[in-house]
Amino acid sequence: MKSYLTRRGFIRNAAAGSAVLTWLSARRGPTVFAADAGKPALLGGTPAHKGGWPKWPEWRESWEPDILKVLRSGVWCRAGSTGRVPEFEDAWAKLLGAKKCLATASGTTALMTALHVMNVEAGDEVILSPFTFIATYNVVLEADALPVFADTDPATLTMDPATIESRITDRTRCILPVHIYGMPCYMDEINAVAKKHKLAVVEDACQAWLGEYKGRKCGTLGDLGCFSFQNSKHIPSGEGGAVTGMSEELIDKCHSFHNCGRAFGTNKGRGSFTHGLNYRMMHYQAALLLQQFDKLVKETAHRQANADHLIAGLKQIPGIAPARLPENSRAAWHLFPFRYDPQQFNGLPRDKFIKAMNAEGVSCGGGYSEQYFDGLLDEAIASRSFKRLFGAKRLKAYRDSLQELKGNKLVCQTTIGMYQSMLLAERSAMNDIIEAVRKIHAHSAALAKAA
Ligand SMILES: Cc1ncc(COP(=O)(O)O)c(C=O)c1O
Repeated sequence: MKSYLTRRGFIRNAAAGSAVLTWLSARRGPTVFAADAGKPALLGGTPAHKGGWPKWPEWRESWEPDILKVLRSGVWCRAGSTGRVPEFEDAWAKLLGAKKCLATASGTTALMTALHVMNVEAGDEVILSPFTFIATYNVVLEADALPVFADTDPATLTMDPATIESRITDRTRCILPVHIYGMPCYMDEINAVAKKHKLAVVEDACQAWLGEYKGRKCGTLGDLGCFSFQNSKHIPSGEGGAVTGMSEELIDKCHSFHNCGRAFGTNKGRGSFTHGLNYRMMHYQAALLLQQFDKLVKETAHRQANADHLIAGLKQIPGIAPARLPENSRAAWHLFPFRYDPQQFNGLPRDKFIKAMNAEGVSCGGGYSEQYFDGLLDEAIASRSFKRLFGAKRLKAYRDSLQELKGNKLVCQTTIGMYQSMLLAERSAMNDIIEAVRKIHAHSAALAKAA
């Protein structure tokens, strides 16, 4: 059995954990351990954390009047420049400091729109991060382009900028960095390579709402940035997405593409004059998003403060390495990840560490796996269109090069993550997490021996 969990599988796991445990009230005092508390729960000790974790997503009754108004209006579909969707676009652009925003049906369609507008075409190559949700691979394949992976930096879990240039060919059109778990990529370095080789930069900011790099928000750092508002996200509307950017012309082109090719703003023409599809967001999704702006801002600060506390505590424990962030940046923390070194835990394998943490009342799981070996890319390589577009020699070299992603392999094997809503708990719960890891570390030899 694979020892990692997919993100959605992880969320299901965490939610199931919360269902059987009751969330402690704010009145809970500092953690007090019984005499046997030093012993891990798996060895018969008391769990470090006895409460559950905040549930996600949240619904507030106070949102209902406004959302019901939209539902009762019968005007659900976006058409024209009024209604909740354009209101949301203006507000999201303002919150991010972007020039403009386009709302879309999902993060996937936001990325597809951005790649289309940046002229990624059949037979092109896109350099992306392999440590990401599979949608990032799929949008490149959907453009009939080749997803070429830069390696992952084990210290940051994001794209290693030093590994981009060697991947560039005369077909490379775009770099697609992913601010994974809401941790900003090293954008200065990435943008410098892009500028040197005249490549577009599309940020996958689908997990990076309000993530910040050198004073600017994720989604405003490349040519275009893409967000997801899917159910598990920090600002969810079931499904939903957005493209943001600093160029009105580019976002207007995105608008035309997402609306069946109709003319929009600076992208002038007659009727449906350009290639386009229907990737529109609906007004009641936008109404739901508009209700959550203040909540997102407050919760982001809460997650960040708790993450700082966790980093300070966890990095003292040998074998636990929280991810390094670029200087002067703030993560959104969609997951709180750290790398785990079993050597420092008497050889306790990662899946056993995770089991021990879960027994302590701390839900956690592995990160992404080496998904490029799961069949998706072999399917593309074997397809008639890819053979025609890239030729057997290029495809063989491409397939072989997947073995060279050493940094990513290490990251896939050693990363552990905790779900974002856990960071919304109170400070004492963060101390419980640190205590759980300390206990496991202290008793790792016994845990490694236990079945
Ligand atoms: C990094 C990343 N990229 C792209 C997507 C796709 O977004 P959506 O699920 O809204 O289509 C997601 C969503 O989970 C994501 O996490």
